[in-house]
Amino acid sequence: MMDSAESETKRIGSVLFVCLGNICRSPLAEGIFRHQLHQVERLEAFRLDSAGTGGWHAGDPPDPRSIAVARSHGIDISQQSARQIVAADFQQFDLILAMDRSNEATLKARAPLAAQGRIRLFLDHTLGIRADVPDPYHDAADGFEAVYRMLDQGCSALLRNLA
Ligand code: 4NP
Repeated sequence: MMDSAESETKRIGSVLFVCLGNICRSPLAEGIFRHQLHQVERLEAFRLDSAGTGGWHAGDPPDPRSIAVARSHGIDISQQSARQIVAADFQQFDLILAMDRSNEATLKARAPLAAQGRIRLFLDHTLGIRADVPDPYHDAADGFEAVYRMLDQGCSALLRNLA
Protein backbone atom coordinates (compact mmCIF):
# COMPACT_ATOMS: atom_id res chain seq x y z
CA MET A 1 0.00 0.00 0.00
CA MET A 2 1.16 3.53 -0.69
CA ASP A 3 0.91 5.70 2.37
CA SER A 4 0.65 9.39 1.51
CA ALA A 5 -2.55 11.03 0.35
CA GLU A 6 -0.65 12.48 -2.59
CA SER A 7 0.41 9.03 -3.75
CA GLU A 8 -3.15 7.78 -3.39
CA THR A 9 -4.43 10.46 -5.74
CA LYS A 10 -1.77 9.64 -8.33
CA ARG A 11 -2.56 5.95 -8.35
CA ILE A 12 -4.66 4.93 -11.31
CA GLY A 13 -4.88 1.21 -10.90
CA SER A 14 -4.13 -1.95 -8.98
CA VAL A 15 -3.35 -5.38 -10.35
CA LEU A 16 -3.10 -8.68 -8.49
CA PHE A 17 -1.48 -11.64 -10.26
CA VAL A 18 -2.65 -15.04 -9.01
CA CYS A 19 -1.43 -18.61 -9.52
CA LEU A 20 -1.62 -21.76 -7.41
CA GLY A 21 1.43 -21.54 -5.15
CA ASN A 22 2.58 -17.90 -5.61
CA ILE A 23 6.16 -19.10 -6.03
CA CYS A 24 6.55 -19.70 -9.80
CA ARG A 25 4.26 -17.81 -12.21
CA SER A 26 2.59 -14.95 -10.35
CA PRO A 27 5.77 -13.61 -8.67
CA LEU A 28 7.38 -13.59 -12.11
CA ALA A 29 4.38 -11.77 -13.60
CA GLU A 30 4.47 -9.20 -10.80
CA GLY A 31 8.23 -8.70 -11.22
CA ILE A 32 7.98 -8.32 -15.01
CA PHE A 33 5.12 -5.83 -14.85
CA ARG A 34 6.83 -3.87 -12.06
CA HIS A 35 9.98 -3.71 -14.21
CA GLN A 36 8.04 -2.57 -17.28
CA LEU A 37 6.17 0.13 -15.34
CA HIS A 38 9.45 1.31 -13.83
CA GLN A 39 11.00 1.58 -17.29
CA VAL A 40 8.21 3.89 -18.47
CA GLU A 41 8.21 5.80 -15.13
CA ARG A 42 4.64 4.78 -14.28
CA LEU A 43 5.32 2.50 -11.33
CA GLU A 44 4.01 4.97 -8.75
CA ALA A 45 0.62 4.97 -10.49
CA PHE A 46 -0.02 1.30 -9.76
CA ARG A 47 -0.35 -1.00 -6.81
CA LEU A 48 0.96 -4.45 -7.77
CA ASP A 49 0.94 -7.68 -5.83
CA SER A 50 0.69 -11.43 -6.33
CA ALA A 51 -0.91 -14.26 -4.39
CA GLY A 52 -1.66 -17.97 -4.56
CA THR A 53 -5.02 -19.69 -4.38
CA GLY A 54 -3.22 -22.15 -2.07
CA GLY A 55 -1.28 -21.31 1.06
CA TRP A 56 1.30 -24.13 1.17
CA HIS A 57 4.20 -21.81 0.35
CA ALA A 58 3.11 -18.77 2.40
CA GLY A 59 6.16 -16.83 3.54
CA ASP A 60 8.48 -18.54 1.05
CA PRO A 61 10.59 -16.67 -1.54
CA PRO A 62 9.88 -17.40 -5.21
CA ASP A 63 11.05 -20.74 -6.63
CA PRO A 64 14.82 -20.57 -7.40
CA ARG A 65 14.04 -21.26 -11.08
CA SER A 66 11.73 -18.22 -11.27
CA ILE A 67 14.35 -16.10 -9.51
CA ALA A 68 16.99 -17.34 -12.00
CA VAL A 69 14.93 -16.74 -15.14
CA ALA A 70 13.97 -13.26 -13.93
CA ARG A 71 17.61 -12.49 -13.13
CA SER A 72 18.68 -13.64 -16.61
CA HIS A 73 16.39 -10.89 -17.95
CA GLY A 74 17.68 -8.26 -15.52
CA ILE A 75 14.81 -8.47 -12.99
CA ASP A 76 15.22 -9.19 -9.26
CA ILE A 77 12.24 -10.98 -7.69
CA SER A 78 14.21 -12.57 -4.84
CA GLN A 79 12.69 -10.33 -2.14
CA GLN A 80 9.09 -11.36 -2.82
CA SER A 81 7.27 -13.49 -0.27
CA ALA A 82 4.41 -15.86 -1.09
CA ARG A 83 0.95 -15.38 0.39
CA GLN A 84 -2.50 -16.84 -0.08
CA ILE A 85 -5.33 -14.76 -1.51
CA VAL A 86 -7.59 -13.22 1.18
CA ALA A 87 -11.15 -11.89 1.03
CA ALA A 88 -9.95 -8.27 1.15
CA ASP A 89 -8.11 -8.77 -2.16
CA PHE A 90 -11.47 -8.99 -3.92
CA GLN A 91 -12.36 -5.51 -2.64
CA GLN A 92 -8.97 -3.88 -3.09
CA PHE A 93 -7.78 -4.81 -6.59
CA ASP A 94 -9.20 -3.41 -9.83
CA LEU A 95 -7.89 -6.33 -11.83
CA ILE A 96 -7.20 -9.87 -10.63
CA LEU A 97 -5.34 -11.86 -13.28
CA ALA A 98 -5.43 -15.65 -12.97
CA MET A 99 -2.58 -17.58 -14.57
CA ASP A 100 -4.68 -20.58 -15.60
CA ARG A 101 -8.31 -21.61 -15.89
CA SER A 102 -8.15 -23.63 -12.69
CA ASN A 103 -6.92 -20.55 -10.77
CA GLU A 104 -9.66 -18.50 -12.47
CA ALA A 105 -12.36 -20.98 -11.43
CA THR A 106 -11.07 -21.07 -7.84
CA LEU A 107 -11.05 -17.28 -7.63
CA LYS A 108 -14.55 -16.97 -9.08
CA ALA A 109 -15.86 -19.54 -6.60
CA ARG A 110 -14.40 -17.56 -3.68
CA ALA A 111 -15.13 -14.01 -4.82
CA PRO A 112 -18.29 -12.05 -4.06
CA LEU A 113 -20.62 -11.16 -6.93
CA ALA A 114 -19.32 -7.59 -7.11
CA ALA A 115 -15.77 -8.79 -7.85
CA GLN A 116 -16.56 -11.42 -10.51
CA GLY A 117 -15.95 -9.08 -13.43
CA ARG A 118 -12.53 -8.08 -12.15
CA ILE A 119 -11.27 -11.67 -12.26
CA ARG A 120 -9.77 -12.38 -15.68
CA LEU A 121 -7.62 -15.06 -17.26
CA PHE A 122 -4.18 -13.47 -17.82
CA LEU A 123 -3.59 -14.41 -21.48
CA ASP A 124 -7.23 -13.78 -22.41
CA HIS A 125 -7.27 -10.32 -20.85
CA THR A 126 -3.86 -9.26 -22.16
CA LEU A 127 -3.52 -10.96 -25.56
CA GLY A 128 -7.03 -12.20 -26.32
CA ILE A 129 -5.93 -15.84 -26.14
CA ARG A 130 -8.10 -18.06 -23.94
CA ALA A 131 -5.16 -20.22 -22.84
CA ASP A 132 -3.31 -21.03 -19.65
CA VAL A 133 0.12 -19.92 -18.53
CA PRO A 134 1.11 -23.52 -17.73
CA ASP A 135 2.26 -24.54 -14.28
CA PRO A 136 6.04 -25.02 -14.64
CA TYR A 137 6.59 -26.46 -11.14
CA HIS A 138 7.45 -29.96 -12.40
CA ASP A 139 9.33 -28.72 -15.49
CA ALA A 140 13.01 -28.19 -16.20
CA ALA A 141 14.43 -24.67 -16.50
CA ASP A 142 13.32 -24.31 -20.14
CA GLY A 143 9.70 -24.43 -18.94
CA PHE A 144 10.39 -21.35 -16.86
CA GLU A 145 11.86 -19.51 -19.85
CA ALA A 146 8.71 -20.33 -21.86
CA VAL A 147 6.56 -19.03 -19.00
CA TYR A 148 8.72 -15.89 -18.82
CA ARG A 149 8.14 -15.18 -22.52
CA MET A 150 4.35 -15.58 -22.21
CA LEU A 151 4.26 -13.33 -19.16
CA ASP A 152 6.50 -10.73 -20.79
CA GLN A 153 4.30 -10.56 -23.89
CA GLY A 154 1.12 -10.41 -21.81
CA CYS A 155 2.51 -7.74 -19.48
CA SER A 156 3.63 -5.64 -22.46
CA ALA A 157 0.07 -5.70 -23.79
CA LEU A 158 -1.27 -4.88 -20.32
CA LEU A 159 1.10 -1.92 -20.15
CA ARG A 160 -0.14 -0.60 -23.49
CA ASN A 161 -3.74 -0.90 -22.29
CA LEU A 162 -3.33 0.47 -18.76
CA ALA A 163 -0.50 2.96 -18.81
P1 4NP B 1 2.83 -21.63 -9.21
O1 4NP B 1 3.48 -23.10 -9.29
O2 4NP B 1 1.33 -21.85 -9.02
O3 4NP B 1 3.14 -21.03 -10.54
O4 4NP B 1 3.48 -20.92 -8.04
C1 4NP B 1 3.31 -24.05 -8.29
C2 4NP B 1 4.07 -24.01 -7.15
C3 4NP B 1 3.91 -24.97 -6.17
C4 4NP B 1 2.99 -25.98 -6.34
C5 4NP B 1 2.22 -26.01 -7.49
C6 4NP B 1 2.38 -25.06 -8.47
N1 4NP B 1 2.84 -27.00 -5.36
O5 4NP B 1 2.08 -27.93 -5.58
O6 4NP B 1 3.46 -26.91 -4.30
